[in-house]
Amino acid sequence: MRTSIVILLAILIAVQTTPAPAQGKKLPHIVILATGGTIAGSADSKTSVGYTSGAVTVDALIAAVPTLKDIARITGEQVSSIGSQDMCDSVWLKLAARANAVLAADTVDGVVITHGTDTMEETAYFLQLVVKSKKPVVLTGSMRPSTALSADGPLNIYNAVAIASDPAAAGRGVLVAANDDIHSARDITKMNTTDVQTFDSPEYGLVGTTLYGKQTFFRTAYRKHTVNSEFSVTDVKSLPRVDVLYANSDMSADLIDAAVKLGAKGIVIAGVGDGNMTTPALDALSRAVKAGVVCVRSSRLPSGRTWRNSEVNDDKMGFVAAGELNPSKSRILLKLALMKTKDAAQVQKYFEEY
Ligand code: DGL
Repeated sequence: MRTSIVILLAILIAVQTTPAPAQGKKLPHIVILATGGTIAGSADSKTSVGYTSGAVTVDALIAAVPTLKDIARITGEQVSSIGSQDMCDSVWLKLAARANAVLAADTVDGVVITHGTDTMEETAYFLQLVVKSKKPVVLTGSMRPSTALSADGPLNIYNAVAIASDPAAAGRGVLVAANDDIHSARDITKMNTTDVQTFDSPEYGLVGTTLYGKQTFFRTAYRKHTVNSEFSVTDVKSLPRVDVLYANSDMSADLIDAAVKLGAKGIVIAGVGDGNMTTPALDALSRAVKAGVVCVRSSRLPSGRTWRNSEVNDDKMGFVAAGELNPSKSRILLKLALMKTKDAAQVQKYFEEY
């Protein structure tokens, strides 16, 4: 009898001291904009090397991560269904318009964009320069299709939503969530054709890490971005053509001359070493400048800056030195810069600010 009274008392005390569940705090509202990619890929078997990219819808991607409902209220939109090797200016402009539109709504706390990994770094940097909100924008993808054994997409989506729901992610520029890492759009680059741990940020490292939706941030994007960017694509229907040309031994003038003839408004050289190229190529690039084309020297190397007036006299030749931006990101900044100016000195300033 005595024991049962003690047990009853213990239960009563436990019930009284157990803190009342916190008032159901409203979960953040995250919009997932889907573009395709391997994360939406499907294959005939769980171990197939071959697969079709962009075959799975945003609703199916969300349904594959039921625990999302524990951390956010989700709305999904299908912006495109393409492998990101087919990403293009028209989808970029549509994506930027949708992201800015949903971010402007008071009812939206952040945006996640699912995307192929091949050009994710490019879309992320483009959005970093044209999104007009401090709210988190987080891109994510996967290296294995949704149907694969140990698919990496579902956890990447969960982490991306958790990051986008995290107030600490706001104001850090556009972020990329990949394999528990959080990268800055400006610094991330794909380093391996098939590895799940393919992404790296070789110059400045990660912005933070995440583990099952728990974030640790240790830096922010230090160059101008989002609300501090002077670039806008509002009501823009097309972007200037900028071609990237890969330098190598015995590089000829032909492709540089051809790019000018084909109407390129800007040319980026993925140079050898510190943005170098053969003498015939340098002469052709000089001709391009004289024809009114803005020319940027970047490097084909995975890390390091391309320095102004190193082995090439940029002051004399009228070139722009890319600094830390790789050729693909140099192309994006140059496309947006050309919407404002063709003055190489002003473009150089942009490469020092963004
Ligand atoms: N088709 C490539 C793409 O959409 C596959 C790479 C991936 O998404 O992981 O970028």
